[in-house]
Amino acid sequence: MPRSLRSWLGGCLLMSALGMVPPPENVRMNSVNFKNILQWELPAFPKGNLTFTAQYHSYKKFQDMCTRTALTECDFSGLSKYGDHTLRVRAEFADEHSDWINITFCPLDDTMIGPPEMQVEVLANSLHMRFLAPKMENEPETWTMRNIYNSWVYNVQYWKNGSDEKWPKTCQYDFEVLRDLEPWTTYCVRVQGFLPDRNKSGEWSQPVCERTADDETTPPWTVAVVLAASLCAALLLLGCSALLWCLYKKTKHAFCPGNCLPQHLKEFLGHPHHSTLLIFSFPPADENEIFDKLSVITQVSENSRQNPGDGSPPGAPSGQGSSELVPEEGVHTEGYSTPLLLSPTCEGQRETT
Ligand SMILES: *[C@@H]1O[C@H](CO)[C@@H](O)[C@H](O)[C@H]1NC(C)=O
Ligand SMILES: *[C@@H]1O[C@H](CO)[C@@H](O)[C@H](O)[C@H]1NC(C)=O
Ligand SMILES: *[C@@H]1O[C@H](CO)[C@@H](O)[C@H](O)[C@H]1NC(C)=O
Ligand SMILES: *[C@@H]1O[C@H](CO)[C@@H](O)[C@H](O)[C@H]1NC(C)=O
Repeated sequence: MPRSLRSWLGGCLLMSALGMVPPPENVRMNSVNFKNILQWELPAFPKGNLTFTAQYHSYKKFQDMCTRTALTECDFSGLSKYGDHTLRVRAEFADEHSDWINITFCPLDDTMIGPPEMQVEVLANSLHMRFLAPKMENEPETWTMRNIYNSWVYNVQYWKNGSDEKWPKTCQYDFEVLRDLEPWTTYCVRVQGFLPDRNKSGEWSQPVCERTADDETTPPWTVAVVLAASLCAALLLLGCSALLWCLYKKTKHAFCPGNCLPQHLKEFLGHPHHSTLLIFSFPPADENEIFDKLSVITQVSENSRQNPGDGSPPGAPSGQGSSELVPEEGVHTEGYSTPLLLSPTCEGQRETT
């Protein structure tokens, strides 16, 4: 260390003695999101204020970027993003100048990826994150670093505030949700851009900390349950209506007048031969079944109600049973439906009722 210091001092003294200008020191490229700033430090030069000239190589010769500037940096953001560039800078004093200091710069490889922006929103016990890739220097507003690197992903880290354990998550898209977190817990999140094909990481964003809420606000199954309940209620209502309607119809059938057989059936049944056939073709079945038959007939009674007084066919026995089951029918139509009702089971029903 003392030796290098001595040699450095010796060099300075030599340069001063020979009137030589020392070159700029610690020359480096500071590039973030393609904002390329070449920086250096002032060398010790007691004779006066130095100026600097910085150049880049293009089309087989060097072009000036900053000429005789007193600053210790020069903006190279206008360089193409592709390929290697040779840059150089030297110090100048009056008519003298130092040697060039050369560096090579490959923007795609060398530029640093700045921190993405991030918005975090709490929804119950999940965190909804929206990322915004860093903007590119010297490009339209909508251009981001994501547009130039195909393999771009977001690396997310999240952790409970106060805990050292960090969980990673890789996100392909600008939107991501951290689900099923512990309720009423403060989580912190940070994000960086990452290029898997280059194994290149961007800078981490500032952590954003949010406190989760309870997970019982509206989980999806609640919605499902509410929907199912509504459906059940609707079905129940429908069923009740149908039942009431049935009851109404049956009651109406049992007590209301004017239910008759259709004309052609009356004529058919009015014939004694047919009616006996029909009677004996009936099985001595359950009384409800007979009642049902009656209901079916009344469904098409519209036709006969229009001409109720149609002459009763001769030989139709007037039935006691019919007037019992369909009380008012007998009044208008005497015994149109009697063949049907004069079956033994019909009599049986009359007795049971
Ligand atoms: C050097 O620069 C400083 C300001 O940066 C100025 O005050 C001073 O006069 C300059 N010296 C010479 C010799 O130009
Ligand atoms: C910079 O490059 C030039 C040629 O382009 C060379 O002459 C010079 O010695 C180089 N300077 C340093 C410090 O390497
Ligand atoms: C995180 O925890 C620390 C203590 O561990 C506390 O001081 C800080 O306020 C917390 N931050 C948030 C956002 O809750
Ligand atoms: C990627 O880079 C990190 C350091 O940034 C290094 O630790 C790791 O081994 C690298 N992975 C590969 C596959 O090169």
